[in-house]
Amino acid sequence: MSDDTILLGMKAIEVWPKDCQSEICGDSTIHRITFTDTREYHPRLVAKILELEENHRLRRRYFRGACGTKIHHLEKWASTEAELITARARALFRKVLECEHAVVDLSWANVYRAGDYCLPHSHLRSTASVVYCLDAGDEDPDDSQGGRFCFVDPRLRNCCQHQEGCMTTPFYPGMAAGTMLIFPSQLVHTVNPYAGARPRITLSWNINKHALPGPALPADAGSDP
Ligand SMILES: [Fe+2]
Repeated sequence: MSDDTILLGMKAIEVWPKDCQSEICGDSTIHRITFTDTREYHPRLVAKILELEENHRLRRRYFRGACGTKIHHLEKWASTEAELITARARALFRKVLECEHAVVDLSWANVYRAGDYCLPHSHLRSTASVVYCLDAGDEDPDDSQGGRFCFVDPRLRNCCQHQEGCMTTPFYPGMAAGTMLIFPSQLVHTVNPYAGARPRITLSWNINKHALPGPALPADAGSDP
């Protein structure tokens, strides 16, 4: 297996499919790409995540507004599909930041069940963050913004459409299944409350050009498994 392909079963999948290009999304610091070969890895990856969500030491649930159930450390899942999508996240970082190295500080899945949401936050310890949508979940006929990812940051012009520096308009980059987004980790973002029956599943990576000292998760420093 080369660095350019990853073997899924008997099939070699290109880490970066030919003719695949990211585009600027609303702001020059945010880029988006949509992969079209998702049937090659989504079913097994979703099944893996739902298995880990059931009962696994990597599973963590904090409180309702803490972005659903988190399953950290994709590199520990023993999943070739997780390896592929991580390779894509790292390749996107290298392309957008025009650099040679991309070191993942922390990666995780988020599984949103009905009622879950994510309070506004930035990501620590990283230059850029990548989010990937595995399943956007069910549409809510009563709430077109339900379960949607958006930026709510006064540093983004898109968010300040009435007065510079005043955040009045959430910016929705659009996150369908297969969409990968990269943005500066400090940008404040949120996920609106989700009300669907099907789990809404995303993946995230915090990435730097070089490795940082110390554990990315405080729990990893102690005895908490
Ligand atoms: Fe986040």
